[in-house]
Amino acid sequence: MNRSRSPEHAWWQSGVVYQVYPRSFQDSSGDGIGDLPGILSRLDHLVSLGVDALWLSPIYPSPMADFGYDVSDYCSVHPIFGSLADFDRLVAAVHERGLRLILDYVPNHTSDRHPWFQESRSSRTSAKRDWYIWRDARPDGSEPTNWLSEFGGSAWTWDATTGQYYYHAYLKEQPDLNWRNPDVQRAMLDVLTFWFERGVDGFRVDAIHHLFEDERLRDNPVNRDWRSGMSPARRLIRAHTMDQPEVHGAIAAMRRVADAFGDRVMIGEAYLPIDRLMAYYGVDLTGFHLPFNFHLLSTPWHPVAVSTLIEAYEAALPPGGWPNWVLGNHDRSRLASRLGLRQARIAAMLLLTLRGTPTIYQGEEIGMTDVPVPSDKVQDPWERNVPGLGLGRDPARTPMQWDGGRNAGFSTGEPWLPVARDADAVNVAAQAADPSSILSLYRALIRLRRAEPALSVGDYRPRSAGENILSYERHHQGRRFLVALNMSGESRSLNGLPAGRLLVSTALDRWDEPVSDALALRADEGCVIALQ
Ligand code: NOJ
Repeated sequence: MNRSRSPEHAWWQSGVVYQVYPRSFQDSSGDGIGDLPGILSRLDHLVSLGVDALWLSPIYPSPMADFGYDVSDYCSVHPIFGSLADFDRLVAAVHERGLRLILDYVPNHTSDRHPWFQESRSSRTSAKRDWYIWRDARPDGSEPTNWLSEFGGSAWTWDATTGQYYYHAYLKEQPDLNWRNPDVQRAMLDVLTFWFERGVDGFRVDAIHHLFEDERLRDNPVNRDWRSGMSPARRLIRAHTMDQPEVHGAIAAMRRVADAFGDRVMIGEAYLPIDRLMAYYGVDLTGFHLPFNFHLLSTPWHPVAVSTLIEAYEAALPPGGWPNWVLGNHDRSRLASRLGLRQARIAAMLLLTLRGTPTIYQGEEIGMTDVPVPSDKVQDPWERNVPGLGLGRDPARTPMQWDGGRNAGFSTGEPWLPVARDADAVNVAAQAADPSSILSLYRALIRLRRAEPALSVGDYRPRSAGENILSYERHHQGRRFLVALNMSGESRSLNGLPAGRLLVSTALDRWDEPVSDALALRADEGCVIALQ
């Protein structure tokens, strides 16, 4: 089933990952919320796009306080999304098409409605009391530490019944599990086994850097760089609530479960500086195969900044550690809104010609933009708790735009979030018929990447180019490619180029053009050139 053209690499190294946000991909039932049969009905889009694996954000039973990242049963499917039988059908259909299926795994916290937490909070002597993080108040009755919730307010909530506080890195409806308790570890590792046995090819592991907190309950230091307008949680430096050393033992345990099944992938979600992130590969690569690299999301969109990032990241990788790149997800403003549509094409070319595994967020392939959500329609608890700072994630989670019909073909019912107003023009059907669309560009780039392993697994070699141009070469087994990306709205010419053939331009109007010495790059144009 390995569709990779680089046989010496695993599927998750040479392949492309595509993130599906199930609530917003395709609704089959008419309730306005996407579901598993809906995803199944749209698999052919992923095949024609050319990706290798789908990662589904959580599909488990959940009160949806954080839209599925508050799990109340790890081993089932939320009826909104379908049933376990629907899931089995989806896995089979994914595999039939030569694709892989990656699920989201949320180990840091459960829902407050999870039976484990219900039992834990029932009394101080409950057998599951120690499955969560319970602490006494300080003598004055206040919270045990100054720790803050990512979603606003204290990270501690008082439980009047048992007279203690419990800790939650996110919402109070998302109590943190106590991974120091071996029973918790066992129960959570069993969850991985459950899904691996059902045929899942890997996991994206949520909020892994939050898994442990300081046992001595030290207060977090004040962040002197905090300014109004920033998330209130950033008032403190998370020295004692994030990236604690114990996390690596837990990751290694998850990895051992995955390894017992063979050919699976473990991807970790950790927003950390490059030097800290590298530890998540684990000692001798016994940690995550791919600790998500989110640095392109926050690096200024400028050639010097981006090439400095690429080189720093490449240089920091542990021996054998496999790189990966992310340009968008369900938590971040959309690419085309951050960079504009023209540079979103440049970003696509960058993502799909860098060494390592790219992850594409649904809708980026058609250049979807953030959709304004009126305040009475806000769903995201972060926006509700901390309104007006632009932290809300609804705008990037609106329904996928399939065609120019009602609700963009997403649902026959009222969608849970508004459909973009430009959906009659910006949709898969319209773009599939347009050879110059961004969808056509994604398809062309992925096709080229698949045909030419140098673009996925080849060495990365930076090139110096003129102002506003990011340029690099990719080399593999005698094949050499040059990528030149004009990150500005002004035309530029590149001189002193080796001879070659221009294979793809982001404008999709130049194909197989000979290049020797000079190349005129138009405003916002990027090119991939095969060198002789
Ligand atoms: C990261 C997820 O991507 C985000 O959507 C969620 O709110 C938090 N983790 C908490 O699970």
